[in-house]
Amino acid sequence: MHINEVGVLGAGNIGVGVVTDLVLHGVRAVVVDVSDEVLANARETILNNVRFAPMLSKSLPRLSKQEALGRMQFTTDIRDLSSCQFVIENVTENWQIKEAVYRQLELTMPPDICLGANTSCIAITRIASATRRPANVVGLHLMNPVHLKPTVEVIRGVHTSDRTIETLLGLFAQLDKEAIIVEDLPGFVSNRISHLFMNEAAFVLQDRVATASQIDAIFKKCFGHTMGPLETADLIGLDTVVRSLDVLYESYQDSKYRCCPLMRKLVHAGYLGRKAGRGFYEYPKE
Ligand SMILES: NC(=O)c1ccc[n+]([C@@H]2O[C@H](COP(=O)([O-])OP(=O)(O)OC[C@H]3O[C@@H](n4cnc5c(N)ncnc54)[C@H](O)[C@@H]3O)[C@@H](O)[C@H]2O)c1
Repeated sequence: MHINEVGVLGAGNIGVGVVTDLVLHGVRAVVVDVSDEVLANARETILNNVRFAPMLSKSLPRLSKQEALGRMQFTTDIRDLSSCQFVIENVTENWQIKEAVYRQLELTMPPDICLGANTSCIAITRIASATRRPANVVGLHLMNPVHLKPTVEVIRGVHTSDRTIETLLGLFAQLDKEAIIVEDLPGFVSNRISHLFMNEAAFVLQDRVATASQIDAIFKKCFGHTMGPLETADLIGLDTVVRSLDVLYESYQDSKYRCCPLMRKLVHAGYLGRKAGRGFYEYPKE
């Protein structure tokens, strides 16, 4: 099945990346968030991403503003998703918010439509339990910048059907993405490991063993990573990283996932990382 229209629920840090990727690959996106203000900001970020995309990757097309806008619809009404052939959900990493959204999706979407849960840590089987269609729910852990990442971690929940996985793989083929399919436990592979890294880097900073740039430089220059753990946390958004650590801590009841107080303090101060202009680092306005 060729997918022409995808619903994108949640137009925050990762949601705008998802829309950018869809638009660049000729798939129309119906974008839902809670307010017109959030949607207006998302629209600007997406247009900016689309403008710079061909400079960052030769395989991405040059689109005019009008062409890009023609492939997007912005709305605060979830019912506008009803014509979409697939939904990618990217709402806040919070169980109560996700649960309410899946209950609404069940009322809105035709019974055969597959729902991709883009979550950092919440188990897909738990998310699927919020609907009476758990076979239609699959986990997809997209990473920023979505349009420049060729590979996605895909998570099969207990009830995820082969049809749902095949539908998702078909969409990924359209987006030139490869999937690595893993089983379902909180944090999956990527975040169960990477959040320990980011959290411990914050503890190292809190303990004044090294500065933020020294910590990141060791990972980049000695290990050859493209980004250090603190830069990565700033890119993801410190609020999302803290919420994910809380999910891991609650899920495994293991103290190794207790969130570093310094990171939580930055979130309380509004220093959420790149998206707020300040996190572990300061970012000049683009
Ligand atoms: N940031 C990343 O790099 C990243 C990567 C992979 C997965 N994720 C996951 O994607 C999800 C979103 O993360 P984010 O970093 O974009 O968070 P974010 O806080 O930047 O954005 C979340 C968006 O969801 C919207 N929202 C909340 N309730 C809603 C509702 N009922 N209907 C529609 N929209 C609603 C918010 O207004 C906000 O715009 C989380 O589950 C997160 O774990 C994030």
